[in-house]
Amino acid sequence: MKEKLEAIKVSALGELKEAVSKTELENIRVKFLGKKGELTQILRAMGSVSPEERPIMGKIVNEVKEALEKAIEEAAGVIKNKEKELKLKREVIDISMPGKMKLLGKRHPLSLTLESIQDIFLSMGFSIVEGPEVELDYYNFEALNIPKNHPARGEQDTFYINDNIVLRTQTSPLQIRTMEKQQPPIKVIAPGKVYRSDAVDASHSPIFYQMEGLVVDKGITFADLKGTLDLFARKMFGEDVKTKFRPHHFPFTEPSAEMDATCFLCEGEGCKLCKGSGWIEILGCGMVHPQVLRNCGIDPDVYSGFAFGFGIDRMVMLKYGIEDIRLLYESDVRFLKQF
Ligand code: DAH
Repeated sequence: MKEKLEAIKVSALGELKEAVSKTELENIRVKFLGKKGELTQILRAMGSVSPEERPIMGKIVNEVKEALEKAIEEAAGVIKNKEKELKLKREVIDISMPGKMKLLGKRHPLSLTLESIQDIFLSMGFSIVEGPEVELDYYNFEALNIPKNHPARGEQDTFYINDNIVLRTQTSPLQIRTMEKQQPPIKVIAPGKVYRSDAVDASHSPIFYQMEGLVVDKGITFADLKGTLDLFARKMFGEDVKTKFRPHHFPFTEPSAEMDATCFLCEGEGCKLCKGSGWIEILGCGMVHPQVLRNCGIDPDVYSGFAFGFGIDRMVMLKYGIEDIRLLYESDVRFLKQF
């Protein structure tokens, strides 16, 4: 019996060494220690052993049983570790594999330019106001000294919703809307979309962007206008840029002017961008017309102000050297991803 036990131990340990999975391990356990297992059967046969030998044999059987149990436990540990290792190996990430490219969107050059322009004016203490794109004729024209038969209406032909409602042709109605709501001091910019019934070509689009500026307070002079807009030009186009103001006419400002800046490409020498003149037209501006102040309930004998307006598209085109305004509205990714 002793030899048999020894043989069981040897074969069990041998099988345990070979076991590679939990199932195999369980099968070995059942084979030797299960109800009908080889060792269990020997335990059962103890009855036939003589009383003198019984304690000795019992001791040996127990030793073998304990040894097997211990060996099974150890093998279970080893298998568990191996399985863990395998799992880790299977899940390993190959960092040399090419990743999945995510297509990231970008800001539109109009938004980028608008934001940098806004930053310049915000740093000078302006706040931003907005108004409707579908506008009353009164705000877009009438209150800005552009009555029904005024030639300026021809230049700014637009889309009519009805006789009294238009798609705004300029951001200037924000001057009126702001002054109606707020007594001076006023210092605002008003960016937004405007509309004109122009045929599309390299420099015309029926939709484009403008920005309006308005400052009204006691004692505002043309010097304030020049100082503000000159600083804007230098912040926008470079410290060395010089500005000049040419007399012009706008119905809602008096006197009115257009501001030119030295060409930032050729620095005034004359090139393709400035059409050889060395100067680039930047914006329209002027002192708010007394009648416009009166239209908004502001006394022109107490207050004065200046206003300015420019096309944001034009600024984008100047800044990036874009020659065709259509590129800004065609949503061609090949163009847009350059910014
Ligand atoms: N609204 C004018 C335009 O569309 C631009 C402009 C000129 C705005 C002079 C002003 C200004 O506020 O003072 O042509």
